[in-house]
Amino acid sequence: MLEIKDVQSFYGEALVLNGVTMNVKPGEVVALLGRNGMGKTTLIRSIMCLAQPQVRAGSIKWNGEELLGLKPHGVAQRKIALVPQGRRLFPSLTVTEHLTMIKPTSVKEGWTAEKIFDMFPRLAERRSHRGNQLSGGERQMLAVGRALMIDPEVVLMDEPSEGLAPVMVQHLETIIAELGKTGLGILLVEQNLYSALAVCDRVYVMETGRIVHEASAAEVRTDHSSLMKYLVVQ
Ligand SMILES: Nc1ncnc2c1ncn2[C@@H]1O[C@H](COP(=O)(O)OP(=O)(O)OP(=O)(O)O)[C@@H](O)[C@H]1O
Ligand SMILES: [Mg+2]
Repeated sequence: MLEIKDVQSFYGEALVLNGVTMNVKPGEVVALLGRNGMGKTTLIRSIMCLAQPQVRAGSIKWNGEELLGLKPHGVAQRKIALVPQGRRLFPSLTVTEHLTMIKPTSVKEGWTAEKIFDMFPRLAERRSHRGNQLSGGERQMLAVGRALMIDPEVVLMDEPSEGLAPVMVQHLETIIAELGKTGLGILLVEQNLYSALAVCDRVYVMETGRIVHEASAAEVRTDHSSLMKYLVVQ
């Protein structure tokens, strides 16, 4: 279980997260909603212990162990994976290389490149294409596939459907829901409420660095009028 408590994060002297408390349980798909610039990516970066922002207060615990103070690879070693906003692929590496640089083809346990290709047949067809030759949707599939190759227990997905065509968004929703059912915890940053509701069990809403609303997806499906003021209506 991922437990975030009273986290305050800064860029320089600018306070961006002001006391964030939330959690993700095993097998739970949790959506983090909020408009542009509210601090969603800053929270994801705080969890991954990336160089910026600086977390100056609070705790981020994974199965009871404090993550703050670790290096990003230490976080990854604890089976926390990141699908970063904007995909961050290597332009000159092939699809297969992106996957096998994390786990060589000789390893047959857990996620393998072939299993990723079974899940995303489109990527299988593009396995020799380089990062800069892929479409937006293919890049996103590869970013998800690459994150899975560490055999994570929780995946942080930062707006994976950003910029994708509706059919690709639906495909991704199906994959996220299926991954959740396998016991993987997923923290899904999303701007679109309806896209989030298609897959998630619980919802948090962030507004200027604070969680201003928490509800089960079932509650939100029944009545989301109190949330709408915090969201972009699409
Ligand atoms: N490296 C940085 N240095 C200084 N300020 C930053 C930095 N990155 C983000 N910020 C600021 O922190 C605030 C939160 O940004 P963040 O990227 O976390 O928002 P977000 O909710 O992920 O937005 P979006 O939905 O647009 O991705 C914004 O005001 C942003 O300008
Ligand atoms: Mg962001």
